[in-house]
Amino acid sequence: MSEWVLILGCSTGHGGATTRKLAEDGYGIIGFHFDRGDIKKEAEAFCEELKGLNDGRVHFFNKNAADINVMKEFIPQIEEITGGEPLKLFLHSIAFGTTTNFFGERPVTQKQMDMTVHVMGTSILYWVQELFDGGLLGKGSRVLGLTSEGNYLCMEGYGPVSVAKVALESITRQIGWELGKHGITANCIQAGVTPTRALTKITENWEEWVEKTERRNPMGRTTQPEDVANVVHLLLQPGADFINCSIVYTDGGEHRSGSFD
Ligand SMILES: NC(=O)c1ccc[n+]([C@@H]2O[C@H](COP(=O)([O-])OP(=O)(O)OC[C@H]3O[C@@H](n4cnc5c(N)ncnc54)[C@H](O)[C@@H]3O)[C@@H](O)[C@H]2O)c1
Repeated sequence: MSEWVLILGCSTGHGGATTRKLAEDGYGIIGFHFDRGDIKKEAEAFCEELKGLNDGRVHFFNKNAADINVMKEFIPQIEEITGGEPLKLFLHSIAFGTTTNFFGERPVTQKQMDMTVHVMGTSILYWVQELFDGGLLGKGSRVLGLTSEGNYLCMEGYGPVSVAKVALESITRQIGWELGKHGITANCIQAGVTPTRALTKITENWEEWVEKTERRNPMGRTTQPEDVANVVHLLLQPGADFINCSIVYTDGGEHRSGSFD
């Protein structure tokens, strides 16, 4: 397999599992992550491990991929890696934002809101603009974002991320609508509650969330990053060429269950 994929948030969680799955399938990997300390070492070890899976065709960059200057700086490097060939996939799976309420003891500030909406939402657009202008998206390329049920449900502390998810969905839809004529599709995967680092680090009572989700989910378990990786893999198949501007639910039907209790 000579095709390349670009994954933002490649080191853990949904992005990490997808990176592994696609490397196993022989795709060349270009991944961005933003990790410090022990987590940085884990990411480096993960990168080395992957090189054993696909003849070393793995490039990890520990950079803030939401920084517009980083996007512009790396486009020539990505071009060099792929030999100018369009990417099969651009996956936006970044988790970094402010989790706090709009009112109360720590009301969200404009700076926190702008940062969260950009990093987890609008940054997908600026990457796609750069990639498309650089000829790195073409017929058969997929753009995918990761959304959650928090896009339409209100949850404690999730307000800023919810705004980002609404932006992400709207932007992805519009990308698919504008670029569909080039054979490029854009969709969001809506994952169910998944015990990744983002959940266990950010949410104080995450164990309770997991337990409630297991009760609520029709299939009796939380979503696993591998579930998302499998769906991304499916969406890369030629049979998925006509899925565009859509939300692809990957949650065992969780979003159809009315109550958390
Ligand atoms: N965990 C859930 O329950 C859940 C459910 C639905 C959707 N999602 C969404 O899935 C996506 C991934 O979340 P996750 O749960 O896999 O999180 P995670 O914490 O496991 O992984 C986040 C990844 O993003 C990277 N990252 C963070 N900031 C970055 C930056 N500025 N530049 C580059 N990389 C950066 C990290 O290095 C890591 O690789 C997010 O958009 C999240 O909202 C998560």
